[in-house]
Amino acid sequence: MKSSSMSVTFLLALSVLSNVSVGLIFLSCSSKETKPGQTAAGTAATATANNGVALSSTMQKLKNALENLLPDLADSKGFQDPANHDRLQKEIGDLAAIASKVSHNPIKEKMDPSFAFLSEGFNEEINRASEAFNTGKVEFARYSLMNVNSFCIECHTRTSTGPAFDSAAIDQKLSKLKPLERGEFLLATRQFDEAAKQFEAILENRQERFQFLEFDRALRYVLAITVRFQRDPVKTEKVIQTIKSSPQAPFYLKQAALSWEQSVREWKDERKKAGKKAPTSDELLAKAENLIKKGRQEQVGISDRSGDVDLLRGLSELHQLLVTSLDKNQLGHALFLTGQGYEAIRDLALWSLHENYFESCVRRVPHTTWALSCYKSLEESLIMGFTGSAGTKLPYDVQLRLTELETLAKPETIPEEESREHRTK
Ligand code: HEC
Repeated sequence: MKSSSMSVTFLLALSVLSNVSVGLIFLSCSSKETKPGQTAAGTAATATANNGVALSSTMQKLKNALENLLPDLADSKGFQDPANHDRLQKEIGDLAAIASKVSHNPIKEKMDPSFAFLSEGFNEEINRASEAFNTGKVEFARYSLMNVNSFCIECHTRTSTGPAFDSAAIDQKLSKLKPLERGEFLLATRQFDEAAKQFEAILENRQERFQFLEFDRALRYVLAITVRFQRDPVKTEKVIQTIKSSPQAPFYLKQAALSWEQSVREWKDERKKAGKKAPTSDELLAKAENLIKKGRQEQVGISDRSGDVDLLRGLSELHQLLVTSLDKNQLGHALFLTGQGYEAIRDLALWSLHENYFESCVRRVPHTTWALSCYKSLEESLIMGFTGSAGTKLPYDVQLRLTELETLAKPETIPEEESREHRTK
Protein backbone atom coordinates (compact mmCIF):
# COMPACT_ATOMS: atom_id res chain seq x y z
CA MET A 1 0.00 0.00 0.00
CA LYS A 2 2.56 2.55 0.92
CA SER A 3 6.08 2.84 -0.21
CA SER A 4 9.20 4.87 0.03
CA SER A 5 11.74 6.27 -2.33
CA MET A 6 13.57 3.53 -4.02
CA SER A 7 11.46 0.71 -2.75
CA VAL A 8 8.11 1.25 -4.37
CA THR A 9 7.85 -2.04 -6.11
CA PHE A 10 9.63 -3.96 -3.41
CA LEU A 11 7.36 -2.65 -0.73
CA LEU A 12 4.26 -3.23 -2.78
CA ALA A 13 5.38 -6.79 -3.25
CA LEU A 14 6.07 -7.11 0.44
CA SER A 15 2.68 -5.69 1.32
CA VAL A 16 0.99 -8.26 -0.81
CA LEU A 17 3.09 -11.10 0.53
CA SER A 18 2.63 -10.26 4.14
CA ASN A 19 -0.98 -9.35 3.62
CA VAL A 20 -0.76 -5.92 5.12
CA SER A 21 -4.24 -4.58 5.23
CA VAL A 22 -5.07 -1.48 3.29
CA GLY A 23 -5.31 1.05 6.07
CA LEU A 24 -8.46 2.90 5.47
CA ILE A 25 -8.86 5.08 8.42
CA PHE A 26 -11.74 7.29 9.20
CA LEU A 27 -12.19 9.93 11.76
CA SER A 28 -13.45 13.41 11.58
CA CYS A 29 -12.76 16.82 12.92
CA SER A 30 -13.04 20.37 11.77
CA SER A 31 -10.42 23.00 11.22
CA LYS A 32 -6.71 23.40 11.41
CA GLU A 33 -4.11 25.64 12.89
CA THR A 34 -2.89 28.62 10.98
CA LYS A 35 0.24 30.41 12.09
CA PRO A 36 0.30 34.18 12.19
CA GLY A 37 1.80 35.70 9.11
CA GLN A 38 0.42 32.97 6.91
CA THR A 39 -2.35 33.57 4.49
CA ALA A 40 -5.45 31.58 5.04
CA ALA A 41 -8.86 32.39 3.83
CA GLY A 42 -10.89 33.22 6.87
CA THR A 43 -8.25 32.13 9.36
CA ALA A 44 -10.41 29.97 11.54
CA ALA A 45 -9.25 28.38 14.74
CA THR A 46 -5.86 29.74 15.58
CA ALA A 47 -4.90 26.92 17.83
CA THR A 48 -1.63 28.39 18.91
CA ALA A 49 -2.46 28.32 22.59
CA ASN A 50 -1.56 25.29 24.68
CA ASN A 51 -2.37 22.72 22.05
CA GLY A 52 -0.21 24.43 19.48
CA VAL A 53 2.76 24.51 21.81
CA ALA A 54 2.28 20.86 22.69
CA LEU A 55 2.09 19.91 19.03
CA SER A 56 5.17 21.88 18.19
CA SER A 57 7.26 20.20 20.88
CA THR A 58 5.94 16.77 19.89
CA MET A 59 6.99 17.56 16.33
CA GLN A 60 10.47 18.55 17.43
CA LYS A 61 10.74 15.22 19.23
CA LEU A 62 9.64 13.44 16.08
CA LYS A 63 12.34 15.19 14.18
CA ASN A 64 14.99 14.05 16.65
CA ALA A 65 13.71 10.49 16.71
CA LEU A 66 13.72 10.32 12.92
CA GLU A 67 17.18 11.82 12.74
CA ASN A 68 18.49 9.14 15.09
CA LEU A 69 16.89 6.32 13.22
CA LEU A 70 17.49 7.31 9.61
CA PRO A 71 21.16 6.42 9.29
CA ASP A 72 20.29 2.93 10.56
CA LEU A 73 17.45 2.62 8.09
CA ALA A 74 19.79 3.39 5.24
CA ASP A 75 22.12 0.61 6.28
CA SER A 76 20.44 -2.74 5.72
CA LYS A 77 23.28 -4.81 7.18
CA GLY A 78 23.65 -2.73 10.30
CA PHE A 79 19.90 -2.80 10.79
CA GLN A 80 19.96 -6.59 10.90
CA ASP A 81 23.01 -6.83 13.12
CA PRO A 82 22.02 -8.39 16.47
CA ALA A 83 24.51 -6.07 18.15
CA ASN A 84 22.22 -3.16 17.27
CA HIS A 85 18.98 -4.89 18.18
CA ASP A 86 18.34 -3.46 21.62
CA ARG A 87 19.22 0.09 20.69
CA LEU A 88 17.02 -0.03 17.58
CA GLN A 89 14.17 -1.55 19.51
CA LYS A 90 14.32 1.32 21.94
CA GLU A 91 14.49 3.93 19.18
CA ILE A 92 11.53 2.45 17.33
CA GLY A 93 9.58 2.25 20.57
CA ASP A 94 10.35 5.92 21.25
CA LEU A 95 9.16 6.90 17.80
CA ALA A 96 5.94 4.93 18.29
CA ALA A 97 5.30 6.61 21.63
CA ILE A 98 5.70 10.09 20.14
CA ALA A 99 3.59 9.21 17.11
CA SER A 100 0.75 8.16 19.33
CA LYS A 101 0.86 11.63 20.92
CA VAL A 102 0.31 13.19 17.51
CA SER A 103 -2.85 11.24 16.86
CA HIS A 104 -4.13 11.98 20.33
CA ASN A 105 -3.33 15.65 20.27
CA PRO A 106 -6.56 17.54 21.06
CA ILE A 107 -5.61 20.03 18.37
CA LYS A 108 -6.85 17.59 15.77
CA GLU A 109 -10.41 18.60 16.55
CA LYS A 110 -9.63 22.03 15.19
CA MET A 111 -7.93 20.91 12.02
CA ASP A 112 -8.51 19.95 8.45
CA PRO A 113 -10.12 16.45 8.56
CA SER A 114 -6.99 15.00 7.03
CA PHE A 115 -5.05 15.65 10.24
CA ALA A 116 -7.04 12.93 11.95
CA PHE A 117 -6.63 10.20 9.37
CA LEU A 118 -3.08 11.08 8.47
CA SER A 119 -2.06 10.96 12.11
CA GLU A 120 -3.85 7.64 12.51
CA GLY A 121 -2.19 6.23 9.41
CA PHE A 122 1.16 7.48 10.60
CA ASN A 123 0.63 5.83 13.94
CA GLU A 124 -0.42 2.56 12.36
CA GLU A 125 2.54 2.47 10.04
CA ILE A 126 4.94 2.87 12.95
CA ASN A 127 3.15 0.30 15.05
CA ARG A 128 3.26 -2.14 12.19
CA ALA A 129 6.99 -1.55 11.88
CA SER A 130 7.52 -1.91 15.58
CA GLU A 131 5.58 -5.15 15.70
CA ALA A 132 7.48 -6.50 12.71
CA PHE A 133 10.79 -5.61 14.32
CA ASN A 134 9.83 -7.26 17.59
CA THR A 135 8.79 -10.45 15.85
CA GLY A 136 11.97 -10.73 13.84
CA LYS A 137 10.71 -9.39 10.52
CA VAL A 138 13.52 -6.91 10.53
CA GLU A 139 13.73 -6.14 6.83
CA PHE A 140 10.02 -5.53 6.63
CA ALA A 141 10.28 -3.20 9.62
CA ARG A 142 13.01 -1.27 7.86
CA TYR A 143 10.97 -0.70 4.72
CA SER A 144 7.92 0.21 6.70
CA LEU A 145 9.87 2.79 8.68
CA MET A 146 11.28 4.28 5.53
CA ASN A 147 7.73 5.02 4.49
CA VAL A 148 7.01 6.98 7.65
CA ASN A 149 8.42 10.06 5.95
CA SER A 150 5.52 10.09 3.53
CA PHE A 151 3.15 10.96 6.34
CA CYS A 152 5.28 13.79 7.69
CA ILE A 153 5.56 15.15 4.17
CA GLU A 154 1.89 14.84 3.29
CA CYS A 155 0.88 16.65 6.48
CA HIS A 156 3.40 19.42 6.02
CA THR A 157 2.77 20.18 2.37
CA ARG A 158 -1.01 20.16 2.31
CA THR A 159 -1.10 23.89 1.86
CA SER A 160 0.96 27.01 2.45
CA THR A 161 0.82 27.14 6.23
CA GLY A 162 3.19 26.43 9.07
CA PRO A 163 6.85 27.18 9.67
CA ALA A 164 9.69 26.58 7.26
CA PHE A 165 13.20 26.14 8.62
CA ASP A 166 16.54 27.03 7.17
CA SER A 167 19.00 24.19 7.22
CA ALA A 168 22.29 24.18 8.94
CA ALA A 169 24.99 22.16 7.21
CA ILE A 170 23.80 18.59 6.65
CA ASP A 171 24.39 16.67 9.80
CA GLN A 172 27.20 14.14 9.78
CA LYS A 173 24.68 11.46 10.68
CA LEU A 174 22.71 12.08 7.51
CA SER A 175 25.60 12.14 5.12
CA LYS A 176 25.27 8.37 4.65
CA LEU A 177 21.88 8.81 3.04
CA LYS A 178 21.28 8.95 -0.67
CA PRO A 179 20.19 12.34 -2.08
CA LEU A 180 16.54 11.25 -2.33
CA GLU A 181 16.48 10.00 1.26
CA ARG A 182 18.20 13.12 2.47
CA GLY A 183 15.69 15.24 0.59
CA GLU A 184 12.84 13.30 2.15
CA PHE A 185 14.22 13.86 5.62
CA LEU A 186 14.64 17.58 4.98
CA LEU A 187 11.13 17.83 3.62
CA ALA A 188 9.69 15.78 6.48
CA THR A 189 11.28 18.22 8.89
CA ARG A 190 10.09 21.28 6.99
CA GLN A 191 13.43 22.42 5.62
CA PHE A 192 11.77 23.15 2.31
CA ASP A 193 14.46 25.06 0.45
CA GLU A 194 17.24 22.65 1.25
CA ALA A 195 14.97 19.71 0.40
CA ALA A 196 14.15 21.27 -2.96
CA LYS A 197 17.86 21.57 -3.67
CA GLN A 198 18.39 17.85 -3.10
CA PHE A 199 15.52 16.94 -5.40
CA GLU A 200 16.57 19.39 -8.07
CA ALA A 201 20.03 17.85 -8.07
CA ILE A 202 18.43 14.49 -8.85
CA LEU A 203 16.43 16.03 -11.68
CA GLU A 204 19.50 17.74 -13.06
CA ASN A 205 21.71 14.68 -12.83
CA ARG A 206 22.71 13.80 -16.35
CA GLN A 207 24.59 10.61 -15.61
CA GLU A 208 22.12 8.10 -14.34
CA ARG A 209 19.48 7.24 -16.86
CA PHE A 210 16.65 4.86 -16.12
CA GLN A 211 16.45 5.65 -12.44
CA PHE A 212 12.83 6.36 -13.21
CA LEU A 213 11.37 5.71 -9.80
CA GLU A 214 13.84 7.97 -8.13
CA PHE A 215 13.35 10.64 -10.76
CA ASP A 216 9.58 10.42 -10.52
CA ARG A 217 9.61 10.75 -6.74
CA ALA A 218 12.03 13.65 -6.73
CA LEU A 219 9.77 15.43 -9.19
CA ARG A 220 6.65 14.80 -7.13
CA TYR A 221 8.36 16.22 -4.07
CA VAL A 222 9.60 19.33 -5.84
CA LEU A 223 6.14 20.04 -7.18
CA ALA A 224 4.63 19.47 -3.74
CA ILE A 225 6.99 22.17 -2.50
CA THR A 226 6.70 24.76 -5.26
CA VAL A 227 3.00 24.30 -6.08
CA ARG A 228 1.32 23.24 -2.87
CA PHE A 229 3.44 24.72 -0.13
CA GLN A 230 5.15 27.72 -1.72
CA ARG A 231 2.48 28.41 -4.34
CA ASP A 232 5.13 29.86 -6.57
CA PRO A 233 4.56 29.77 -10.35
CA VAL A 234 8.04 31.07 -11.16
CA LYS A 235 9.82 28.32 -9.23
CA THR A 236 7.42 25.79 -10.73
CA GLU A 237 8.28 27.01 -14.19
CA LYS A 238 11.96 26.46 -13.48
CA VAL A 239 11.28 22.86 -12.54
CA ILE A 240 9.34 22.37 -15.75
CA GLN A 241 12.23 23.69 -17.81
CA THR A 242 14.57 21.27 -16.03
CA ILE A 243 12.35 18.37 -17.02
CA LYS A 244 12.06 19.57 -20.59
CA SER A 245 15.81 19.83 -21.03
CA SER A 246 16.75 16.72 -19.07
CA PRO A 247 18.20 13.87 -21.11
CA GLN A 248 17.23 11.39 -18.41
CA ALA A 249 13.59 12.38 -17.89
CA PRO A 250 11.26 9.64 -19.10
CA PHE A 251 9.08 10.48 -22.06
CA TYR A 252 5.81 10.44 -20.14
CA LEU A 253 7.10 13.18 -17.86
CA LYS A 254 8.39 15.27 -20.74
CA GLN A 255 4.95 15.03 -22.30
CA ALA A 256 3.34 16.04 -19.05
CA ALA A 257 5.73 18.99 -18.76
CA LEU A 258 4.19 20.51 -21.88
CA SER A 259 0.80 20.49 -20.26
CA TRP A 260 2.24 21.91 -17.00
CA GLU A 261 3.71 24.80 -18.95
CA GLN A 262 0.24 25.74 -20.06
CA SER A 263 -1.07 25.40 -16.50
CA VAL A 264 1.62 27.74 -15.21
CA ARG A 265 0.84 30.31 -17.91
CA GLU A 266 -2.77 30.33 -16.77
CA TRP A 267 -1.69 30.51 -13.17
CA LYS A 268 0.36 33.62 -13.85
CA ASP A 269 -2.48 35.25 -15.78
CA GLU A 270 -4.82 34.60 -12.93
CA ARG A 271 -2.40 36.28 -10.54
CA LYS A 272 -2.26 39.37 -12.72
CA LYS A 273 -6.01 39.63 -12.84
CA ALA A 274 -6.63 38.92 -9.16
CA GLY A 275 -8.19 41.79 -7.24
CA LYS A 276 -7.07 42.89 -3.79
CA LYS A 277 -10.18 41.70 -2.02
CA ALA A 278 -9.89 38.35 -0.26
CA PRO A 279 -12.03 35.81 -2.10
CA THR A 280 -15.07 34.33 -0.37
CA SER A 281 -15.34 30.64 0.44
CA ASP A 282 -17.67 30.15 -2.49
CA GLU A 283 -15.25 31.83 -4.84
CA LEU A 284 -12.38 29.71 -3.57
CA LEU A 285 -14.48 26.60 -3.90
CA ALA A 286 -15.37 27.48 -7.48
CA LYS A 287 -11.71 28.07 -8.25
CA ALA A 288 -10.71 24.75 -6.71
CA GLU A 289 -13.46 22.95 -8.57
CA ASN A 290 -12.26 24.41 -11.82
CA LEU A 291 -8.67 23.35 -11.15
CA ILE A 292 -9.57 19.80 -10.18
CA LYS A 293 -11.85 19.46 -13.16
CA LYS A 294 -9.19 20.79 -15.52
CA GLY A 295 -6.52 18.56 -14.00
CA ARG A 296 -8.70 15.49 -14.48
CA GLN A 297 -9.48 16.42 -18.04
CA GLU A 298 -5.83 16.89 -18.87
CA GLN A 299 -5.06 13.32 -17.94
CA VAL A 300 -4.97 10.92 -20.81
CA GLY A 301 -5.10 7.47 -19.29
CA ILE A 302 -4.74 6.65 -15.62
CA SER A 303 -1.01 6.98 -15.18
CA ASP A 304 -0.76 10.21 -17.13
CA ARG A 305 0.61 13.13 -15.14
CA SER A 306 -0.40 16.06 -17.34
CA GLY A 307 -2.90 17.33 -14.81
CA ASP A 308 -0.54 17.41 -11.83
CA VAL A 309 0.07 21.16 -11.60
CA ASP A 310 -3.63 21.98 -11.73
CA LEU A 311 -4.49 19.15 -9.38
CA LEU A 312 -1.86 20.18 -6.85
CA ARG A 313 -3.04 23.78 -7.01
CA GLY A 314 -6.61 22.66 -6.51
CA LEU A 315 -5.64 20.52 -3.53
CA SER A 316 -3.69 23.36 -1.96
CA GLU A 317 -6.77 25.60 -2.20
CA LEU A 318 -9.01 22.88 -0.83
CA HIS A 319 -6.85 22.23 2.20
CA GLN A 320 -6.82 25.94 2.87
CA LEU A 321 -10.60 25.97 2.68
CA LEU A 322 -10.97 22.97 4.94
CA VAL A 323 -9.54 24.90 7.88
CA THR A 324 -12.21 27.57 7.62
CA SER A 325 -15.77 27.33 8.79
CA LEU A 326 -17.83 26.03 5.93
CA ASP A 327 -21.52 25.27 5.80
CA LYS A 328 -22.58 21.69 5.17
CA ASN A 329 -22.96 22.11 1.47
CA GLN A 330 -19.54 23.72 1.09
CA LEU A 331 -17.89 21.12 3.32
CA GLY A 332 -19.38 18.22 1.38
CA HIS A 333 -18.37 19.79 -1.89
CA ALA A 334 -14.81 20.49 -0.68
CA LEU A 335 -14.31 16.95 0.62
CA PHE A 336 -15.67 15.44 -2.58
CA LEU A 337 -13.29 17.51 -4.68
CA THR A 338 -10.35 16.70 -2.40
CA GLY A 339 -11.08 13.01 -2.83
CA GLN A 340 -11.25 13.43 -6.60
CA GLY A 341 -7.99 15.36 -6.59
CA TYR A 342 -6.07 12.69 -4.68
CA GLU A 343 -7.61 9.95 -6.75
CA ALA A 344 -6.34 11.61 -9.92
CA ILE A 345 -2.88 12.39 -8.52
CA ARG A 346 -2.18 8.73 -7.76
CA ASP A 347 0.74 9.10 -5.47
CA LEU A 348 1.99 5.59 -4.79
CA ALA A 349 3.39 6.58 -1.43
CA LEU A 350 -0.05 7.15 0.06
CA TRP A 351 -2.30 5.81 -2.57
CA SER A 352 -5.50 5.33 -0.62
CA LEU A 353 -5.84 8.91 0.64
CA HIS A 354 -8.72 9.68 -1.69
CA GLU A 355 -10.76 6.96 -0.01
CA ASN A 356 -10.22 8.66 3.34
CA TYR A 357 -11.64 11.92 1.98
CA PHE A 358 -14.66 10.27 0.41
CA GLU A 359 -15.35 8.46 3.64
CA SER A 360 -14.87 11.53 5.75
CA CYS A 361 -17.32 13.33 3.44
CA VAL A 362 -20.02 10.71 4.01
CA ARG A 363 -19.52 10.91 7.76
CA ARG A 364 -19.36 14.69 7.99
CA VAL A 365 -22.36 15.55 5.83
CA PRO A 366 -24.53 12.41 5.96
CA HIS A 367 -27.78 12.12 4.00
CA THR A 368 -26.86 14.81 1.47
CA THR A 369 -26.22 14.73 -2.26
CA TRP A 370 -22.51 15.17 -1.54
CA ALA A 371 -22.55 12.16 0.74
CA LEU A 372 -24.10 10.15 -2.06
CA SER A 373 -21.51 11.28 -4.61
CA CYS A 374 -18.71 10.56 -2.15
CA TYR A 375 -20.12 7.16 -1.30
CA LYS A 376 -20.36 6.25 -4.96
CA SER A 377 -16.75 7.22 -5.60
CA LEU A 378 -15.55 5.35 -2.53
CA GLU A 379 -17.45 2.22 -3.47
CA GLU A 380 -16.05 2.30 -6.99
CA SER A 381 -12.53 2.76 -5.75
CA LEU A 382 -12.77 -0.09 -3.24
CA ILE A 383 -14.32 -2.47 -5.71
CA MET A 384 -11.70 -1.64 -8.32
CA GLY A 385 -8.95 -2.00 -5.72
CA PHE A 386 -10.01 -5.35 -4.40
CA THR A 387 -10.98 -7.04 -7.60
CA GLY A 388 -7.89 -7.64 -9.62
CA SER A 389 -5.38 -8.47 -6.93
CA ALA A 390 -7.27 -10.51 -4.38
CA GLY A 391 -10.13 -12.13 -6.24
CA THR A 392 -13.52 -10.58 -6.76
CA LYS A 393 -14.92 -10.50 -3.29
CA LEU A 394 -14.59 -7.62 -0.87
CA PRO A 395 -13.20 -8.60 2.52
CA TYR A 396 -15.87 -8.85 5.17
CA ASP A 397 -14.78 -5.80 7.15
CA VAL A 398 -14.90 -3.70 4.00
CA GLN A 399 -18.39 -4.99 3.20
CA LEU A 400 -19.55 -4.02 6.66
CA ARG A 401 -18.06 -0.58 6.38
CA LEU A 402 -19.67 -0.02 2.99
CA THR A 403 -23.05 -1.07 4.31
CA GLU A 404 -22.76 1.37 7.17
CA LEU A 405 -21.63 4.18 4.91
CA GLU A 406 -24.32 3.54 2.36
CA THR A 407 -26.97 4.00 5.03
CA LEU A 408 -25.30 7.23 6.08
CA ALA A 409 -25.13 8.47 2.52
CA LYS A 410 -28.71 7.78 1.48
CA PRO A 411 -31.57 10.17 2.29
CA GLU A 412 -32.76 9.72 5.83
CA THR A 413 -35.82 7.55 6.10
CA ILE A 414 -38.17 8.38 8.89
CA PRO A 415 -39.32 5.18 10.59
CA GLU A 416 -43.01 4.28 10.00
CA GLU A 417 -44.23 5.01 13.48
CA GLU A 418 -42.48 8.30 13.85
CA SER A 419 -43.83 9.59 10.60
CA ARG A 420 -47.31 8.60 11.62
CA GLU A 421 -46.87 10.53 14.84
CA HIS A 422 -45.76 13.54 12.84
CA ARG A 423 -48.87 13.38 10.77
CA THR A 424 -51.24 13.16 13.73
CA LYS A 425 -49.62 16.11 15.51
C1 HEC B 1 -0.88 14.34 11.08
C2 HEC B 1 -0.09 15.36 10.50
C3 HEC B 1 1.38 15.42 10.81
C4 HEC B 1 2.28 14.39 10.79
C5 HEC B 1 2.05 12.92 10.47
C6 HEC B 1 3.56 14.98 11.09
N1 HEC B 1 3.44 16.32 11.30
FE1 HEC B 1 4.93 17.62 11.78
N2 HEC B 1 3.58 19.15 11.86
C7 HEC B 1 2.21 19.03 11.66
C8 HEC B 1 1.58 20.31 11.88
C9 HEC B 1 0.09 20.61 11.74
C10 HEC B 1 2.60 21.19 12.26
C11 HEC B 1 2.42 22.66 12.66
C12 HEC B 1 2.69 23.55 11.52
C13 HEC B 1 1.45 24.04 10.85
O1 HEC B 1 0.81 24.94 11.40
O2 HEC B 1 1.13 23.55 9.76
C14 HEC B 1 3.84 20.45 12.22
C15 HEC B 1 5.10 20.98 12.52
C16 HEC B 1 6.28 20.26 12.52
C17 HEC B 1 7.56 20.81 12.85
C18 HEC B 1 7.83 22.23 13.30
C19 HEC B 1 7.57 22.32 14.78
C20 HEC B 1 7.81 23.72 15.33
O3 HEC B 1 8.89 23.94 15.87
O4 HEC B 1 6.90 24.55 15.18
C21 HEC B 1 8.49 19.79 12.73
C22 HEC B 1 9.97 19.87 13.00
C23 HEC B 1 7.76 18.60 12.35
N3 HEC B 1 6.42 18.93 12.22
C24 HEC B 1 8.36 17.35 12.14
C25 HEC B 1 7.64 16.19 11.80
C26 HEC B 1 8.25 14.91 11.49
C27 HEC B 1 9.74 14.64 11.48
C28 HEC B 1 7.22 14.06 11.20
C29 HEC B 1 7.29 12.60 10.80
C30 HEC B 1 8.19 11.71 11.49
C31 HEC B 1 5.99 14.80 11.34
N4 HEC B 1 6.28 16.09 11.69
C32 HEC B 1 4.74 14.26 11.12
C33 HEC B 1 1.54 17.90 11.27
C34 HEC B 1 2.11 16.63 11.14
